[in-house]
Amino acid sequence: MKAILVKQPGGPEQLTLGEYEQPLPGPYDLLVKVHATALNRADTLQRQGKYPPPKGASPILGLEIAGEVVEAGINCTRFKKGDKVFGLLPGGGYAEYTIINEHMAMPVPDNLSMEEAAAIPEVFMTAYQALFWLGKLQPGERALIHAGASGVGTAAIQLARVHKAEVLVTASETKLDACKELGAHKTINYKDPEATFDAHVLAHTNSEGVDVIVDFIAGPYFNQNIECLRTDGRLIILASLGGGKVESLDLRKILVKRLQVMGSTLRSRTKDYQIKLTQEMSSYTMPHFESGAIKPVVDSVYNWQDVAEAHRYMEQNKNIGKIVLRVS
Ligand SMILES: NC(=O)c1ccc[n+]([C@@H]2O[C@H](COP(=O)([O-])OP(=O)(O)OC[C@H]3O[C@@H](n4cnc5c(N)ncnc54)[C@H](OP(=O)(O)O)[C@@H]3O)[C@@H](O)[C@H]2O)c1
Repeated sequence: MKAILVKQPGGPEQLTLGEYEQPLPGPYDLLVKVHATALNRADTLQRQGKYPPPKGASPILGLEIAGEVVEAGINCTRFKKGDKVFGLLPGGGYAEYTIINEHMAMPVPDNLSMEEAAAIPEVFMTAYQALFWLGKLQPGERALIHAGASGVGTAAIQLARVHKAEVLVTASETKLDACKELGAHKTINYKDPEATFDAHVLAHTNSEGVDVIVDFIAGPYFNQNIECLRTDGRLIILASLGGGKVESLDLRKILVKRLQVMGSTLRSRTKDYQIKLTQEMSSYTMPHFESGAIKPVVDSVYNWQDVAEAHRYMEQNKNIGKIVLRVS
């Protein structure tokens, strides 16, 4: 089959369309003809040799797909040949064919295209896990979503909004309107030279602060995050785009406000955990996708021959929502 291969660890120019052995489905797997896959930061890191795939996973890039089932393993009961499915993978999405455990697959809603469906799994599962499983966000509470226009950010804004939370976001200035359109109640330009984001949050909330923060920046945001969490607040760190180090830290603020600081990754979770998350996220979001109350946010669709250009675009932080590759 055709697949995008990495010639050697390095920049986007190392990506090339080549030939790779077609995977064989196990008894609980679906063999899927991939129609679309979507980019993740993990792909750019894996391309550079900084994020090896987990043991047993395909070495081909690509953590999510939408496509058509061409063969169902002998023990599969939920899907059959011809069904349109989408879902999260441990790897192998940038390929003509891939395999997915049938319990990790979800049916593509009639009102969504393959490109839109491929833009859902990673970001909605990550946002669902962060807001609801880890953050225990309740209706009426306040959530602060950093990098609000990122793939995960756009999913988190919408999930928090349909959950009836008040949603605050940070993003660069040109992306704030998009965050508002997705349902953010308060948008903050984190590059504002006049005030730091925690000052904006406290001014907006009568100095009360927020209940849950979803953070991808880590080090440089840590103290500001602690500053604008209210008592019993929960901070969920999902990435360290700004670096991993905190210059100085007063732990008493965590103690006195009874804060919870959590980190999480999705790819390293067990298969059982990922299946439970898939099923729960799917039951919660599917009616909202079908009604149009929430939507996958697709920034751009590239033909997979142009994968290097798509990686460059992501690395320049230009996207609002997901970058999708059409596989043909
Ligand atoms: N832990 C997990 O389970 C998990 C799962 C999925 C993704 N992730 C991670 O979460 C992050 C977001 O993923 P994504 O695919 O949604 O990203 P994305 O769509 O590529 O968006 C990332 C955005 O973050 C902002 N940003 C980048 N560097 C920044 C910095 N130093 N300070 C402030 N903002 C910065 C940029 O937007 P602005 O223009 O607004 O600056 C950028 O467009 C990635 O690091 C990814 O690896 C973690």
